[in-house]
Amino acid sequence: MDLSQLIQNFDIGGRLVTVMPTGNGNVNDTYLAIFRNTFEEYQVIMQRINSKVFPDPSLIMKNLREVTAHVHAKLDKDSGRADRVWQMPQIVKTRDGNDFFIDDEGAVWRVITKIPSATAFDETQSLEHARECGTVLGYFHWLLSDIEENKIADPLPGFHITPLYLSRYDEVIENVPEAKERLFSSMEARRMSAFVEKRREFSTVLQKALLCGELEKRMMHGDPKVNNIMIDDFTGKGSAMIDLDTISPGLVHYDFGDAIRSICNPAGEEEPDLRKVVLDFELCEAFCSGYLEQAEMFMSDIDKVYLFDSVRLITFELGLRFFRDYLAGNVYFKTTYSDQNLHRARVQFKLCESIEVRENMMRKLFCG
Ligand SMILES: Nc1ncnc2c1ncn2[C@@H]1O[C@H](COP(=O)(O)OP(=O)(O)O)[C@@H](O)[C@H]1O
Ligand SMILES: [Mg+2]
Repeated sequence: MDLSQLIQNFDIGGRLVTVMPTGNGNVNDTYLAIFRNTFEEYQVIMQRINSKVFPDPSLIMKNLREVTAHVHAKLDKDSGRADRVWQMPQIVKTRDGNDFFIDDEGAVWRVITKIPSATAFDETQSLEHARECGTVLGYFHWLLSDIEENKIADPLPGFHITPLYLSRYDEVIENVPEAKERLFSSMEARRMSAFVEKRREFSTVLQKALLCGELEKRMMHGDPKVNNIMIDDFTGKGSAMIDLDTISPGLVHYDFGDAIRSICNPAGEEEPDLRKVVLDFELCEAFCSGYLEQAEMFMSDIDKVYLFDSVRLITFELGLRFFRDYLAGNVYFKTTYSDQNLHRARVQFKLCESIEVRENMMRKLFCG
């Protein structure tokens, strides 16, 4: 694929200087393209949308159009009050006026503006960085908190509905003979299945709260990890949330929980030494102070009551997904060694335990 030819299909001023791979995303293929004229430079991000993850790219582009229109207008209104210049990418149209381009092989490409002078780190850098991540996610939730639900289609139905993952886990054990074998031939796997059973009832906590009206649906990001949060190179402040394809109507609690799960576990998801896997309470405090300051603008007291459960639940959910995949024979998460998904599950379950141990401290932090 000739990238420099491909990008000429988009309506960008100046002459192309270079186009090259950028970022460490693991869903889409992402490139940085630079255009210049005598006086100015334009930097844009070109992406091939992963059609395996998103079978209907036109749906996610329509969502992106709605989200950016809503947020750009709101950012404009809020700019006088804000303590910084917040940003959100803009869609760059093709020369024929479309939001995306389909190449000869049927792949879907889009171009969006680059967030200037900012970095998406792969790991949490410091307490200050964790705090900024919280601020960015909280502000992002506020920006989307009043978009009409029916304007955004769900790009990944069933994503983050924990009881659904539990029924898929049950199905595998029920229907795949090798899964039963894997479960019963290892002490470790049996211990982990007991861990799951003890939390079966708990797994419905957020869905129940939604059903009985204690919690309401708002727009969630869907993948609020640290390398989807841009930090300004000059001020160290957060400036944008990127990777907007998984935005959908849901519970912002899932984002909150997932962000803490990933940002406050410095050992990461693959750590071989389980003793190192813990929820770092200081990082959690820092993230939370940034988030809650923004969340005051839209969250109720009852929302806050469920924040602890959300951190515990999403960590349990991810562990369960890894464990199920191990039992099913590694069909979803790629592995580089045998038992990797079993180990990943162990890491999340260990993290989940360390969250449970900190319940009182965390509840106090979240609810005041
Ligand atoms: N608008 C943007 N401005 C600056 N960098 C970006 C932008 N969009 C993506 N990137 C960079 O590319 C990486 C991958 O893009 P992302 O949209 O997150 O794709 P993926 O879904 O594959 O994670 C990001 O982590 C970031 O480094
Ligand atoms: Mg990303």
